[in-house]
Amino acid sequence: MKTVLVSGGTSTLGRAICTKFVEDGYMVYCAYASSKEKALSLSTSLGPSLVPLPLDVQDEASIAEACAHLQSLDLLVNNSGVFSVFPTEELVASEWQRIFDINVTGMFRLTKQVLPLLRQAKGTIVNIASINALHPGFGGTTCYDASKGAVVSYTKALAAELAPDVRVNAVAPGLIAAPYLDKDHPLRQLYEKRALLSHLVAPEQVAEAVSFLSRCTAMTAQVLTIDCGYLAG
Ligand SMILES: NC(=O)c1ccc[n+]([C@@H]2O[C@H](COP(=O)([O-])OP(=O)(O)OC[C@H]3O[C@@H](n4cnc5c(N)ncnc54)[C@H](OP(=O)(O)O)[C@@H]3O)[C@@H](O)[C@H]2O)c1
Repeated sequence: MKTVLVSGGTSTLGRAICTKFVEDGYMVYCAYASSKEKALSLSTSLGPSLVPLPLDVQDEASIAEACAHLQSLDLLVNNSGVFSVFPTEELVASEWQRIFDINVTGMFRLTKQVLPLLRQAKGTIVNIASINALHPGFGGTTCYDASKGAVVSYTKALAAELAPDVRVNAVAPGLIAAPYLDKDHPLRQLYEKRALLSHLVAPEQVAEAVSFLSRCTAMTAQVLTIDCGYLAG
C-alpha cells in the first residue's frame, strides 16, 4: 500500500487531499498542528486508512516524532500554510517571520526529515503554492505573496537537486471555496467576475491536480495553476 503524508491535513484543502488519497487506496498520514479534534473526526469518517499525526512544521522535534511513525513514504504533500493581510506600514517583522517560518522554512524542515524515506521509495513531493506567487498584488498580502514565490523557487531548485530520484512539483491554486465565502462575499464576487469559468476553485479540484502530479512520472519542477481561469481573465 502506498503512503502519503499531508501537512495541514485538516485544513480546507488538506481534508480534500486526504480524502482523495484515501479514495486512491493510499495509507494517509493526516498531519495536524493544533486541530486534533478535526483530525480525529476525519479519521472517523474516512476509516483506518487515515492516520492522524501531530506535526508542527515550526518544531524540528515534533517533525522527528511524527517521522518516527513512518516506515516508508511515497508522497509528501507540503500543504501547511498561513495567510494574513497587512499593508507594509502595518506589517511587523515578527509577522513576516511567522509567515515565512511556516510557509517556507516549515516546508524545508519537513522535506529534509522525510527525504531519506522518499529517496528509498523513489517518491515524489507536491508543494502547495498559490496564484499569489504568480500574480502578486491583491493588496496587503506582500508577505504571503513573497512566501509563495519562495515556494515556487524552492520547488524548482529542489526538483533539480533531487532528480532523477525524487520528483518535485507544485500546484498554485486560486481562491478556494470555503464556508465563509458565501455568494455575497465581496472577495468571491471579485474572483468570480474575473475568472473565465466564473466560479471559485473547489478543494476537490486541487486535490485532483495533486493526485495527477503524484502519478505523472514525466513531470518535475512544474507549477500547475488551478484557478478557474482567473489569471487569464
Ligand atoms: N484557501 C485558499 O484560497 C488558498 C489559495 C491558494 C493556496 N492556498 C494554500 O493552500 C494551503 C491550505 O490552505 P487552506 O486554506 O486549506 O488552509 P487553512 O484552512 O487556512 O488552514 C491552515 C493549515 O495550516 C496548518 N498550520 C498552521 N500552522 C502550522 C504549523 N506550525 N505546523 C503545521 N501546520 C500548520 C493548520 O494546521 P492546524 O489547524 O492543525 O493548526 C491548517 O491545517 C496553504 O498552503 C495555503 O497557503 C490556499
